[in-house]
Amino acid sequence: MRTKKYVIKEGGKYVPSKDMKDIAWVSDDKIYSDAKKDPINFWGNLAREGLTWEKEWNQTYEEKLPYFNWFKGGKLNFCVNAVDRHLDKGNKTALIWVPEPINEKPIKLTYAELYDKVNKFANVLKGLGVKKGDVVSVYLPLIPEALVTMLACARLGAIHSVVFSAFSAEALKTRILDGKAKVLVTADGYYRRGEKSELFGKAKNAVKGTTIEKVIVVNRIGKRIFGRKFLDFDEVLEKADSYCKPEIMNSEDPLFILYTSGTTGRPKGIVHDTGGYAVQAYWTSKWNFNLHDDDVMWCTADIGWITGHSYAFYGPLLNGATTLIYEGAPDFPNFQRWWRIIEEFKVNVFYTAPTAIRMFMRVGDKHLKKFKMDSLKVLGTVGEPIDKDAWMWYFNTIGKGRCPVIDTWWQTETGGTLINVLPGVGPFVPTISGRSFPGTKHIIVDPKGQEIQKQGVVGELVQVSPFAPGMLHGVYKNHSKYVKTYWKSFKNKYDTSDGAYYDNGLIRITGRTDDVMKVAGHRLSTAELENALNNHKLVNESGVVPIPDKIKGEVPVAFVVLENSKDGSEKLIAELKKHVDLAIGPTARPELIYFVSDLPKTRSGKIMRRILKDILNNEKPEGLMTLVNPEIVEEIKMVVANHLSK
Ligand code: PRX
Repeated sequence: MRTKKYVIKEGGKYVPSKDMKDIAWVSDDKIYSDAKKDPINFWGNLAREGLTWEKEWNQTYEEKLPYFNWFKGGKLNFCVNAVDRHLDKGNKTALIWVPEPINEKPIKLTYAELYDKVNKFANVLKGLGVKKGDVVSVYLPLIPEALVTMLACARLGAIHSVVFSAFSAEALKTRILDGKAKVLVTADGYYRRGEKSELFGKAKNAVKGTTIEKVIVVNRIGKRIFGRKFLDFDEVLEKADSYCKPEIMNSEDPLFILYTSGTTGRPKGIVHDTGGYAVQAYWTSKWNFNLHDDDVMWCTADIGWITGHSYAFYGPLLNGATTLIYEGAPDFPNFQRWWRIIEEFKVNVFYTAPTAIRMFMRVGDKHLKKFKMDSLKVLGTVGEPIDKDAWMWYFNTIGKGRCPVIDTWWQTETGGTLINVLPGVGPFVPTISGRSFPGTKHIIVDPKGQEIQKQGVVGELVQVSPFAPGMLHGVYKNHSKYVKTYWKSFKNKYDTSDGAYYDNGLIRITGRTDDVMKVAGHRLSTAELENALNNHKLVNESGVVPIPDKIKGEVPVAFVVLENSKDGSEKLIAELKKHVDLAIGPTARPELIYFVSDLPKTRSGKIMRRILKDILNNEKPEGLMTLVNPEIVEEIKMVVANHLSK
């Protein structure tokens, strides 16, 4: 059979080919103008068509800013939508799990098997007293039990709060305390680059002094678990009844909380509701990736992040498709691993981050030569801006010039993708995300909130009413933070904290405009890192800023003022890095640490991070007049220059 080509070049642009138009759910850009005429009804129709409701809503959209509700009065169960309603598909595979060790066999779970496990685990949780509205903490690696746990929570109407397994015990503890969870589901560990990576010890430390009464532990690496509080996942699952009645939820009831970094030291619990989130996850998966129910989708994100929630698990399952997850490192046992997986499991949709693409690009095409990967139809990227070289490499080397690259812009807060082009519509332009998803609207504004329509002028990206169904439903138990972060800067507009400009009518994202970094696609706040450093007994204060990195996009650099300047040493640098690992996790580890005697500050004591950035980028620092201590700038320049000359 001829290998299909989903993209052609026309008028100097990549656009969908006939092969793509033939299979595309959306192949006409009329969808945008139709949706624009009546976005509320547009979403109402999508909600009706895409999901199974127990009761239809009586109000499609209600807006009382800063809050808004979709499908008010509507009732549904999320798990029924993701699992039960696909049971008639017989033995269709819901999940393919590829463990890291090459001698361990992949596991396939059909929708029926998944249903069985989810029902049983829901009964386990119920037996431990978990009920509708309770928070369950989840600290699991990418293993099938993560999916089972999250869906079991959804079945009961409990709110899952997943914490990235590479985060530290302290990070887990803060999140447990915020959600007041009584149950934690974790694992003894997982495999990473051929080694057993321990998780249980961290979980055990984290639950001390919290509300956690029981910890359910998946046996992944054969560690012996004992103690009254701890239960074995398989053992309790085996004993559980095999049917659990799904709890019928209101559309606006919370489905999950996911913590993310903002401009302050404490991560915020982003709340996502049931109906609106499900509608956006369903339709964005279907249209962005042209996902059909006989497709295999592989989203490489970990479930610790929103991309893992929406596109490794929920979006594909709501669509009745097959999702693939891989436990381990992309380079284990070598750089062929990912491409082998695509080939072996005939992956049709592949969704990953620019950091991974840049890493593979760097190690060379030789690892890819023998893989045809002709099952691929659509490629996606997410999480950070993608540069032209990486885009072209992805398009040519992974997609063999056959598949569109969909650059999806979105955030933890938005629940699902919001700005990208659709595969059947195009055009596919390197570095350009595209247009607002049909039925949503983003504009670019100046600092006063006035719309900028001119091409090429950078402004702040904001979303305007009606706000997308998948948008956050507030910050968990923190109304003022919700208002301050998203609704203070511009009246009646959701502030994304991203910069953007128009390029031929399409939106190009330029990156964060606040003190948030994207390190290998992971979101980190400077304040969170500074807090962690400042908590070390020898540190007086610190200022953290990102610098560009060829692979990770950005990496953090810390300027540290010590209590006693004599303590500065290479040994202390190593100790501080370790300290950050323990406070947050290795993703936050500073790339460089400079000891300085003071930080540039304004009269009100605010650290001028912009000046630190200018120094690192070898640019002339502006605004020295506003500093109380302009003399410090020369000293910091010297410290940086000395390091560079070493
Ligand atoms: O700065 C934007 C960047 O990632 C931020 C959101 O990070 P997080 O909440 O961790 O969610 C990441 C996965 C959705 C945004 O504010 N970002 C996300 N996608 C893109 C992007 N920057 C440029 N291009 C993208 N496609």
